[in-house]
Amino acid sequence: MLLLPLLVALPGLNVVESRKTLAVEHYVEYCAVSCRAYSASVTEFGAVGDGQTSNTRAFQTAVDHLSQYSSNGGSQLYVPPGRWLTGSFNLTSHFTLFLHKDAVILASQDESEWPVIEPLPSYGRGRDTQGGRYSSLIFGTNLTDIVITGDNGTLDGQGEVWWQKFHKGELSYTRPYLIEIMHSDDIQISNLTLVNSPSWNVHPVYKIECNNIVVRGITILAPVNSPNTDGINPDSCTNTRIEDCYIVSGDDCVVVKSGWDEYGIAYGMPTKQLVVKRLTCISPTSAVIALED
Ligand SMILES: *[C@@H]1O[C@H](CO)[C@@H](O)[C@H](O)[C@H]1NC(C)=O
Ligand SMILES: *[C@@H]1O[C@H](CO)[C@@H](O)[C@H](O)[C@H]1NC(C)=O
Ligand SMILES: *[C@@H]1O[C@H](CO)[C@@H](O)[C@H](O)[C@H]1NC(C)=O
Ligand SMILES: *[C@@H]1O[C@H](CO)[C@@H](O)[C@H](O)[C@H]1NC(C)=O
Repeated sequence: MLLLPLLVALPGLNVVESRKTLAVEHYVEYCAVSCRAYSASVTEFGAVGDGQTSNTRAFQTAVDHLSQYSSNGGSQLYVPPGRWLTGSFNLTSHFTLFLHKDAVILASQDESEWPVIEPLPSYGRGRDTQGGRYSSLIFGTNLTDIVITGDNGTLDGQGEVWWQKFHKGELSYTRPYLIEIMHSDDIQISNLTLVNSPSWNVHPVYKIECNNIVVRGITILAPVNSPNTDGINPDSCTNTRIEDCYIVSGDDCVVVKSGWDEYGIAYGMPTKQLVVKRLTCISPTSAVIALED
């Protein structure tokens, strides 16, 4: 294990209360919905919410277009009611992705919709296969001020086909996650339901300055026998708050990480100042909160 100064605050544990206050006082509250200067709907970029049309280009075009506001008041991309099929797309800075309560972002099952990216440096290799890994459904790297939220809208990973490939040893690369944010600061992921992820659900990894990550009001659902469907995995992160989350999954609900094996030790970036509050976890064969490296 790497050095993991860990702070888990549980209701009623007053001994940690003063340290908790110290740890959380740096957190920023995000104005997720109304603070952006510019807002657009994904339909303005040609997206079709029929559950069949691929919207990968529409999502990426929308974000690329909105990135011009990153240094000019920020922007919000709105996803209206519908079933929006897409492969992986990247986020930009000072950006909110907002899902209506009846919006479902459906993850494509077509591997060509998932760019293959390098293994994480603190993992050295893919987890499912030796080489690269599929980029996550919602991916961001080297960003600041990102909000992924909604009125309990849904990300549906349609993981069944990936789980089967995993069991049959038919994966070309490591399975994608639903949300991965790398090397970024000021991240809020809230008020969403995540179902049937191909693998892990929420993976913030690597700090630049101090991260400041809030994961709040998230429901994560996956069959309890689905492979590696970890809930929330803070990995080499600092200042993370996970609260009011409900997780039913086939693996650990919260996993505190700092890379993997000798690669994680060589990378040497611990997870620090973590608060987990009001977590409900149903995971019959795995942990509520696991500490791993
Ligand atoms: C998330 O839901 C809570 C509780 O309903 C609400 O207070 C909060 O404003 C919501 N946050 C966003 C970003 O919509
Ligand atoms: C998304 O970001 C990854 C990693 O930086 C990059 O490899 C990929 O080309 C980006 N995708 C798009 C569509 O820009
Ligand atoms: C992202 O940030 C990391 C850490 O600071 C840095 O090593 C990497 O080169 C950056 N990547 C890009 C695409 O800027
Ligand atoms: C969000 O939706 C999920 C799945 O339908 C449900 O279990 C959960 O209670 C909802 N959360 C809120 C805050 O309404």
